[in-house]
Amino acid sequence: MLLKYKATIGSLLFLVFLWSCNKKDSSLPDPCLGVSYDVQYFKTEAISTSNNGTIAITFPVGDTISYQLNNGAFQASPSFTNLAPGNYVITVKNQKNCTDTAQITILNYGPKYALVKQIITGYCGPCHLNGATNGGKNFDTDASIVAGWDRIKARAVDNNPTQMPQLPNAPLTAVDKQKITDWVNAGHRQSD
Ligand code: HEC
Repeated sequence: MLLKYKATIGSLLFLVFLWSCNKKDSSLPDPCLGVSYDVQYFKTEAISTSNNGTIAITFPVGDTISYQLNNGAFQASPSFTNLAPGNYVITVKNQKNCTDTAQITILNYGPKYALVKQIITGYCGPCHLNGATNGGKNFDTDASIVAGWDRIKARAVDNNPTQMPQLPNAPLTAVDKQKITDWVNAGHRQSD
């Protein structure tokens, strides 16, 4: 009888203990409150049919951060490779299990267009990139490069009426000029 009584008191105390723990927990501040990452990344598009797009997270990085692609497993490496064209969600997680996400689209480029895009990115800034519009031309978007194909060839390959990149910058090499010509002849689309 006494034993039974003790057991009842014991379980009552245990319940009170559980209740107080619970109460304490829910009054703790959320460790993720105010945690947000302005996720930064570098990506390369998938070329042709080879599903070789890449994403490399450049912020946040560090030992305590892990990364997830869509619903895959979290990994320590901030790099993802062999990506097909499409929309992806990258989740970053810190040591307190706080997360943030970034939506990233991997585009599909034709092989000839990919080379032209590289030339434009490498040689046509600062005059036509990052918002610059010399001669009324800005090449920040793929659509603007595709729409500007004839003038790109005229100015950077045929030097008509004068050379681009503008003097005193060096002209493109014969190899790079050929890349533009090949793209134009193939149909000057993003998929060429
Ligand atoms: C150092 C600055 C500079 C660089 C680099 C440069 N441009 Fe230009 N671009 C200009 C200026 C200034 C104009 C306007 C004067 C003119 O048309 O000559 C212009 C005009 C243009 C135009 C519009 C005029 C037209 O003839 O249709 C095109 C197209 C063009 N550039 C293409 C290119 C390409 C392609 C590259 C890279 C391969 C390039 N530019 C690199 C300065 C530059």
